[in-house]
Amino acid sequence: MQHVSLDSFELHYVDQGAGPVLVLVHGFPLDHSMWQGQIDELSKQFRVVAPDLRGFGKSKSNDDVVTMAQFADDIAALLDALKINEPITYCGLSMGGYIGWQFVLRHGDRLAKLIQCDTKAKADTDEARATRLKAADHVLEHGPETLIATMMPKLFAEENCSSQPDIVEATRKVMMNTAPSAIAAAQRGMAERPDVTDELSKINVPALILCGEHDAISPADEMRDIASAMPNATFVQIDGAGHMAPLEDPQAVNAAICDFLS
Ligand code: MLT
Repeated sequence: MQHVSLDSFELHYVDQGAGPVLVLVHGFPLDHSMWQGQIDELSKQFRVVAPDLRGFGKSKSNDDVVTMAQFADDIAALLDALKINEPITYCGLSMGGYIGWQFVLRHGDRLAKLIQCDTKAKADTDEARATRLKAADHVLEHGPETLIATMMPKLFAEENCSSQPDIVEATRKVMMNTAPSAIAAAQRGMAERPDVTDELSKINVPALILCGEHDAISPADEMRDIASAMPNATFVQIDGAGHMAPLEDPQAVNAAICDFLS
């Protein structure tokens, strides 16, 4: 991995391939490695940039709260550092998608196309927000085990848990190695993220809205509604996959992305 120095931390990233720029933004509490199946394949046609977000993976940082807007500004700062001035394709999963909405709103002039995987436009309910804030405090005090035990059963389609134990284990390992401070900071940032439902009709860039059939966190029906609310969006369901569709079925996800970008 390479890195650049941003305001208060070093942002580590993969930069592979040549061609139109495709930025892959990971979910919570993960790192760039969730996109390995996309990096390997799509870098044959695109310049793929996949960061470890502030606090995650190798991008160590020590913030109390990181908002989705701050993460989006970090992506823009990375593009500046790499002197990427051409409009890019932004592709985010789940938290990476929450950041994607903020990238659209704050850096829309840098965007050619948008890919939102397994994510939501709605803000947290009061109950979900309270649970997140409690989880943030718990992780800081006791470590990530409880959070991981709660999240793991929701990440993958049931069938893939038994047929692909390697990706389940690799994901658990990344989560275990994530700094509790980064988990807490992102939880607090997600808790205060705005509802962007009313913005969807104004997002005119071509968009691919992609969702695993069995996503237990961002249900496919909700993502279908997101696509319907956007003027220039296509919905693609990844059959048999759950919340981690790009990891569970990289071939189908890569085909959908290539189809969309060609
Ligand atoms: C993710 O996969 O990034 C998380 O499930 C997002 C969330 O906690 O809302």
